[in-house]
Amino acid sequence: MRLLVCGGAGFIGSTFTRQRLLEHGDEVTVLDKLTYAGREENLQDLAEHGGLRFLRGAIEDPTAVAGAIEAGTPEAIVNFAAETHVDRSITAPDAFVSTHALGTYVLLEAARSHRLRYLQVSTDEVYGSIDVGAFTEDSPLRPSSPYSATKAGADLLVQSYVHTYGLSAVICRGSNNYGPYQYPEKLIPLMILNAMHGDRLPVYGDGMQVRNWIHSTDFASAIGHVLERGAKGEVYNAGGPDEQANVEVVKRIVELTGAAEAQIEHVADRPGHDRRYALSSDKLRALGWVPRVSFADGLEQTVAWYQVNRWWWEPIRAGEYREYYERQYGRSLHS
Ligand code: NAD
Ligand code: TYD
Repeated sequence: MRLLVCGGAGFIGSTFTRQRLLEHGDEVTVLDKLTYAGREENLQDLAEHGGLRFLRGAIEDPTAVAGAIEAGTPEAIVNFAAETHVDRSITAPDAFVSTHALGTYVLLEAARSHRLRYLQVSTDEVYGSIDVGAFTEDSPLRPSSPYSATKAGADLLVQSYVHTYGLSAVICRGSNNYGPYQYPEKLIPLMILNAMHGDRLPVYGDGMQVRNWIHSTDFASAIGHVLERGAKGEVYNAGGPDEQANVEVVKRIVELTGAAEAQIEHVADRPGHDRRYALSSDKLRALGWVPRVSFADGLEQTVAWYQVNRWWWEPIRAGEYREYYERQYGRSLHS
């Protein structure tokens, strides 16, 4: 297939791009704005691959999107492009509104006028928090942060294009991802790097919030599955095989890195913090998808990846991230 992958220089988008180029022989045009979270380094190992084309541009810019479609002549658009950090959506929601609402609209219009298949990458957070059981695709949307609310809005817009214009669109909603190349503002890479540097490990509130962890290669394969086999207009959940409370995740990272448990510090809770996410993936499993990486193995491999790949995170920890960290946590990082 020839694909236009928007947001393909981010954490999951680059994992998907790698999988499609190396395992499926697809041609991929990446369109990415390169925000603080988007990095060409995430695609560095693929730079010589003849099937990859990289274009810098924003999804809310119709000229950039038209240029990417002309250059790549795609059969499908896969949209990963998003602002993705809940804490940043609480302090500065504006970019979330423009990228998720306007950006998704511009891509949908492009897909409509070129008659392309369209896949929207979405999140379990659109369903809100669940104390027991798991969300299915029929669960109501009850998003609680500016991040999840604007993602839910984008999903509804996608469904309106199916209903109104007959667009061949599908939505894939994933649970919390982890793995190589994840920007260190998120729980797992933040704790790994802080543990390695002797920094405090800031657990929000009581740390008993539960997340349903999925390795990024498993979410990428779920998206590929939905792209190839999903029925027009349908939503498919892709949840990981395991769930765990945050404080347990952090304790395991302490063990794996040889850090000290005394580095763990309970800090003020996130406003409006969702207590638990859990997804039922039966509908996607019925299409033949299975997550392959257990959280125990995946976490160990992810810690090892950050330990070995200093080239990847050293420039991040030396740059904008330091200032973000000080603003968010009220303390500075060690080296
Ligand atoms: P990320 O922050 O690592 O990457 C986002 C990418 O999108 C970056 O490369 C960024 O430069 C690009 N981007 C942002 N705004 C853009 C714009 N306006 N135009 C073009 N490019 C833009 O995020 P991620 O974790 O890889 O998430 C990718 C997608 O998966 C998002 O849609 C997210 O909502 C969804 N998702 C993420 C998770 C998770 O746990 N990380 C879970 C479920 C779903
Ligand atoms: P995060 O990685 O931001 O993902 P999401 O909010 O999308 O689930 O956070 C995962 C969980 O970890 C969430 O319950 C918030 C918590 N958390 C902390 O306790 N401390 C931190 O420094 C961060 C970034 C997250």
